[in-house]
Amino acid sequence: MQVIIVSDAAEGAREVADVFERVLRDAGAVVLGLATGSSPLAGYRELIRRHREEGLSFASARAFLLDEYVGLPSDHEQSYHRFIRENLTWHIDIDDAAVLSPQGQAADPIAEADRYDRSIAEAGGVDLQILGIGSNGHIAFNEPGSSLASRTRPVVLTESTIADNARFFDSREDVPTLALSQGLGTIREAKEIVLTATGENKARAIAQMVEGPISARWPASCLQLHPAVTVVVDEAAASQLE
Ligand code: F6R
Repeated sequence: MQVIIVSDAAEGAREVADVFERVLRDAGAVVLGLATGSSPLAGYRELIRRHREEGLSFASARAFLLDEYVGLPSDHEQSYHRFIRENLTWHIDIDDAAVLSPQGQAADPIAEADRYDRSIAEAGGVDLQILGIGSNGHIAFNEPGSSLASRTRPVVLTESTIADNARFFDSREDVPTLALSQGLGTIREAKEIVLTATGENKARAIAQMVEGPISARWPASCLQLHPAVTVVVDEAAASQLE
């Protein structure tokens, strides 16, 4: 695990975008794994800038989202289907039909989860996965206690994740309590991973992920088992590293 401590958001965005640019230029028809939430946004804005000003192309790329809320229509303003379009994919040259996510309104969420896992495998797996991290150490919606070998599945969100995400909804009661999430085993099959976090409220989770024991108590700690992880954090998020 390589940890890069940056001094501001702009430097973090450049580090994240550099990883994407290298993989896009090396692999051509690349499969990207995309995260939602606030952590990747600065990196996404830098990728949009490089697309517009420097010709960085995503035309041959496909993308799989990490997760989706169960029950929200795909055009709901807080659905991850819509979020990734508004914040990244509508602003670059990726084919919209190549941006895939679990169907939160599927009649059978378990069958949908299996289908999604298979579609990632059929695409040849993810070449580069970007991740954020929850203050409780979750990645995607793999909450503490998730099996380190878990696959895409319906998951119940914890109270702390619902509280963290309430800022995006009118009220806490509006936050869905179920999601479809790639599993920790699914995520670890990505060939390369870049995880980014900022702020004091992520410091404990970052320290446990990088230096703690590998444990379902802090799900992101399973990334210690992965051979190619870059962690881009600001000084506040790095503040509990020894
Ligand atoms: C988003 C996701 C989540 C977030 C995490 C951090 O697709 O899977 O695990 O990465 O909750 O969220 P932010 O970045 O908003 O702090």
